Amino acid sequence: MPAPASIDAISALTEWWGDMGVEVDDATVQAYLKVAERTGPAAESAPAQPARRPRRKKVDWVEEARKIAASCQTLDALKAAIEAFEGSPLKGAAENTVVCDGTPGASLMVIGEGPGAEEDRRGLPFVGKAGQLLDRMLAAIQRDRTENAFITNVNYWRPPGNRNPEAEELAVCRPFVDRMIELSQPKVIVAAGGVPAKSLLASSDGIMRLRGTEHVFKTAGGFTAPLIPILHPAYLLRRPQDKSRAWRDLLLVEQRLGELGG
Ligand code: URA
Repeated sequence: MPAPASIDAISALTEWWGDMGVEVDDATVQAYLKVAERTGPAAESAPAQPARRPRRKKVDWVEEARKIAASCQTLDALKAAIEAFEGSPLKGAAENTVVCDGTPGASLMVIGEGPGAEEDRRGLPFVGKAGQLLDRMLAAIQRDRTENAFITNVNYWRPPGNRNPEAEELAVCRPFVDRMIELSQPKVIVAAGGVPAKSLLASSDGIMRLRGTEHVFKTAGGFTAPLIPILHPAYLLRRPQDKSRAWRDLLLVEQRLGELGG
């Protein structure tokens, strides 16, 4: 029979199991701790200690997001669920959760990278300088968020210093992004910028390679729609000489919407 273990050893072991994602059965651990209290090396010399609870198992936030997203049957429910979600490491430093804006169920859905300072302050996507340019770009193809366009992002919380979101930060949002697409059923999706284009298409290609053509996007739940990557309006503010490329991409968006009855 193995020598009785100390309470500290059992606590350390169960904490390590938790960190490694191993299911730790609370009742069993408590039973071990009780035995250690009675028979362990410290039992005779030290006063009895209360059984310590092992640290809680790490939450798999992507899996959690999947379950929550799948349970949402309306866009309003999904928006509320995203706002209540605690699984993004970015949430603590953000002022607001920025989910979506525009016309639910519109045939055109624009998906950007994530909130900047102004969006974080106001709790709405694309309302800063880049957002104003996006509105003008959409107007050029007779689209307006108040009538026939829906706008969201692949990340709902502003990263510190406006850096790009990290892969894990995008991963916890992704089930919500997919579910939002499934509930909105857009005819055409526009990915505004390299971050959403690469992330949604699971591609390592840059935006210059991805733009200019249509891709097929499929959600985890099996809904498919054409996805057209465009240059991000913030990039176009810095490089207005590339606006002709953006214009060509927008014409493709307009053409596909026309073909698909959007
Ligand atoms: N840029 C984005 O990609 N999304 C926003 O909501 C604002 C700026």
